[in-house]
Amino acid sequence: MVDSKNEKTVELLIKAYNAELETVMNYLANSMHLDGFRAKHVKDSLAADVTEELGHAQQLAARIKILEGKIPGSQAMQWTQTSLQPPADQLDIVSVIKGVIEAEEGAIELYQSIIEAAEEAGDPVTADLCTTIKGDEEEHRREFKGYLAEAEAMLV
Ligand SMILES: [Fe+2]
Ligand SMILES: [Fe+2]
Repeated sequence: MVDSKNEKTVELLIKAYNAELETVMNYLANSMHLDGFRAKHVKDSLAADVTEELGHAQQLAARIKILEGKIPGSQAMQWTQTSLQPPADQLDIVSVIKGVIEAEEGAIELYQSIIEAAEEAGDPVTADLCTTIKGDEEEHRREFKGYLAEAEAMLV
């Protein structure tokens, strides 16, 4: 049974767990889907991130368990990453890069809200975990902002 002071934190941890798993699916799909030499770095980077995002999901699941929450199965999940669906045009790396930046922005915001909820509940361990994960997502966002700058420059 989740302690009432941790209810908000656990609810947000479950939301983040769902988002990480959706990210795993969409990074995996896009890491295979794109074509062309311009897509090489984006594909390699997404393939590497699949493992990292899955690691985040595992860390979140462990924390949900410790706080006595229930880790959801697939049928309790919601899938919302519209902008990360593999594009019809397999050369359209810009849409994938923009989708990644949007997903990372969403993750950064969500981790910030978990940090705040955990701090309010007097739970520095969850706040610390989510601070580290937030740092990883900021790194991903920066990497893909660099790809976006290059991809847009190449289109001129
Ligand atoms: Fe992540
Ligand atoms: Fe990420």
